[in-house]
Amino acid sequence: MTKDANTAISLTECLSQITEHWAPKRVATVNDYDVRVVKILGEFVWHAHPETDELFLVVDGRLTIQLRDGDVTLGPGELYVVPRGVEHCPVADEETSMVLFEPTGTQNTGDAGGPRTREAEPLGPGRR
Ligand code: NI
Repeated sequence: MTKDANTAISLTECLSQITEHWAPKRVATVNDYDVRVVKILGEFVWHAHPETDELFLVVDGRLTIQLRDGDVTLGPGELYVVPRGVEHCPVADEETSMVLFEPTGTQNTGDAGGPRTREAEPLGPGRR
């Protein structure tokens, strides 16, 4: 990953560039992990990631992570890690902004695939 030296990455600025829901964008990498930002609204698809845990950190709004054995609801500043292989389905009743932390190449729809799959592209100039 390249990025401007000595330049902070503003989550607010990154999120302001996002116009599509459920389309994560990469804003940084940490070794072989992506730091991604995403805006969501409504319900996603049930899926699991057989090879990796997945971290959700809410920046703004309210996220419910539906799990087969109960829901976890997160507000701003709260995070949760879905363990590898655990089925989950994120849902947000209001537009919600969050950070995801997961290995580079992790597919947003996991083992479910389908039309809502999005590659996590780098976000904008200077955000590679
Ligand atoms: Ni997932």
